[in-house]
Amino acid sequence: MNYLLFFIEGVLPYIAIIVFVLGTAYRLWRWLATPVPLRITMAPARMTWKGVAGKITAEVLLFISLLRSDRFLWVIAWTMHVFAIVVLVGTHFFGVIEHGIDLWTPYTVPAGKAIIYVAASFAFPLIITLLVLLFKRILTRDIRRISIPTDYVAIGLVLAHVMNGTYMSFFMEVDMAEVMKWGLGLMTLQPHVVEGSWLFALHTATAFSLFIYFPFSKLFHPLGQITNRWTMTQKEEKLIAGGSVVK
Ligand code: HEM
Ligand code: HEM
Repeated sequence: MNYLLFFIEGVLPYIAIIVFVLGTAYRLWRWLATPVPLRITMAPARMTWKGVAGKITAEVLLFISLLRSDRFLWVIAWTMHVFAIVVLVGTHFFGVIEHGIDLWTPYTVPAGKAIIYVAASFAFPLIITLLVLLFKRILTRDIRRISIPTDYVAIGLVLAHVMNGTYMSFFMEVDMAEVMKWGLGLMTLQPHVVEGSWLFALHTATAFSLFIYFPFSKLFHPLGQITNRWTMTQKEEKLIAGGSVVK
C-alpha cells in the first residue's frame, strides 16, 4: 500500500469535509454576529421578505450586480459557472448513477452514456473561461494592481483541478468500477485506494484542497453574496448588539 495515495484518497476526504463544514459554519457565524453600525443598503432597498428573496435569487442565478457593472466580465464569469454546473451534474452526478447501476445489474440507462459524454465536452469551454478570467487579471493593469497572491491561488487551484479532470477523462482510461469502490469505501468508513492512477489521486487532492480552502478564501463568495445582501436589508435594532442605535 502506498502511504501517500492512502492519505490522499482515504484520509484527506474526511479531514476536508470536517474543515469545510466547521469552517463554513464558523465564518457564517462570525459574519452574522458582527454588529453593523451603519446601514449601507443601496437604493432601491428591499425590506420585505419577498423583496429580499427576489434580490438574493437574482444575484445568485444571474449575477445581476456584475451584469450592471461589467458586461464582458459578466459573460465570462456567468458562463464559467454554468459550464461547471453542467459538468458536475451531467458527468459527476449522472456518472455515479450510471456506473453504480453498471456495478449491480446488466441494465444500461438509455442515452446515459451520451448525456455523460456531451456534458463532459463542456470541460473545454470551462477551461477557456477560467483562462480568460486568469489572463484578464494578469494582463489588465488596473486589475493586476489590486490583485493579491491569494486571488491567483483561488482561480489557479480551480483551473488545475478542472484541467487534470479533463486530461483524465479524455486522454486516458480511469477504471470507473475502482472509483465507485473508492466512493463506497469512503461512505462505509472502509477507505479503498484506486491503485495505479496518480491522476485520479491528483484530481482528488485538488478537489479536497478546494473544500479545505473554501471557507477561508474568496471561494466563499457564493455564501458571502447571500449573507451580505441579507445583512444589508435588516433593521438596525437587529444588527447592533444591545440595540444601542434604534430608529
Ligand atoms: C451561488 C453560487 C455562486 C455565485 C452567485 C457566484 C458568483 C460569482 C461572480 C459574480 C463572480 C465574478 C466576480 C468578479 O470577478 O467580480 C465569480 C467568480 C468566480 N467564482 Fe463564483 N459564484 C458562485 C459559486 C462558485 C463556486 C461554488 C465556485 C468554486 C468553488 C466558484 C468559483 C469562482 C471563481 C474561480 C471565480 C473567478 C475569480 C477570479 O476571477 O479570480 N464560484 N463568482
Ligand atoms: C471529490 C470529488 C470529485 C471526484 C471523486 C471526481 C472524479 C472524477 C473522475 C473519476 C473523472 C473522470 C471521469 C471519466 O474519465 O469519465 C472526473 C473528471 C472531471 N472532473 Fe471531477 N471529481 C470530483 C470533483 C470535481 C469538481 C468539484 C469539479 C469542478 C468543476 C470537477 C471537474 C471535472 C472535470 C472538468 C472533469 C473532466 C470532464 C468529465 O469527464 O467530467 N471534478 N472527475
